[in-house]
Amino acid sequence: MIEESKRQREFEARIDLMRERIKDSEDLKVQDEVFDRRVLMDLYALASKGVIESLGGPVSTGKEANIFRAKGEEGADIAVKIYRINTSNFKAMQNYLQGDPRFGSIKGTKRAIIVAWTRKEFRNLTRAEEVGVKVPHPIAMRENILVMEMVGDGENPAPQIKDVALEPEEAQEAFEKIAEYVSLLYNRANLVHADLSEFNILYEDGEPVIIDMGQSVTLEHPMARSFLERDMWNVARHFKKKYGIGSEEAIREKLRAGMKS
Ligand SMILES: Nc1ncnc2c1ncn2[C@@H]1O[C@H](COP(=O)(O)OP(=O)(O)OP(=O)(O)O)[C@@H](O)[C@H]1O
Ligand SMILES: [Mg+2]
Repeated sequence: MIEESKRQREFEARIDLMRERIKDSEDLKVQDEVFDRRVLMDLYALASKGVIESLGGPVSTGKEANIFRAKGEEGADIAVKIYRINTSNFKAMQNYLQGDPRFGSIKGTKRAIIVAWTRKEFRNLTRAEEVGVKVPHPIAMRENILVMEMVGDGENPAPQIKDVALEPEEAQEAFEKIAEYVSLLYNRANLVHADLSEFNILYEDGEPVIIDMGQSVTLEHPMARSFLERDMWNVARHFKKKYGIGSEEAIREKLRAGMKS
């Protein structure tokens, strides 16, 4: 028991430290938006299980979620994604949840929707990883918190692919890998990413890593095909514009090859 309360005190001290760091960073609003009492309790529960050892500063403030660096089991570098309950666009989220047989009947409070969304991202990452797509390994989820492997290291998260300058050969390899991943997701995992672009692909150790799969849908979703078209278009446009390589047709080709094998 003494051990336990000591642990809790230590963890609270770390959260306070993290709050200080966030206060120093540009977005002052983040603190109150993200770290309400429930989030603190859930973070503490994850810490008690040993999933999170300590929390670090912010990596990114996105439209729906905030990402923090953290240390996990045995000091592993992990990323903690916390979906904001109040400022998320949960109406849009509902459109991606409905039509997915895993989540079709989710209704109710904002919180219920966002928790379903978090679970959806966890499951999508799990499925993607199972079929051989390089994604951050999902470690745990609780309520609106997703814990995953940090791509890059604790000090330097890997850059988005839009921010790296690849050699022609590397660009060609990256394009083909991404096309392969679109095909694996579609043909093996029964999934369409649905927000694939140079923003949601990181680049680490000479390889693309696909992130941000909360909105990914199963092929049963009525919009799956048009999401797929948009994903292919985004990827092709980026590589065309920046490197003068790649095309939607080349991705389609991989997709067709993946159907046969
Ligand atoms: N596992 C991770 N490892 C390293 N960096 C990460 C990881 N997950 C997210 N990031 C960083 O945080 C950013 C936002 O993550 P993500 O796209 O999952 O959240 P989001 O809320 O959808 O953000 P946005 O609205 O900007 O798309 C990423 O672009 C990336 O830079
Ligand atoms: Mg994103």
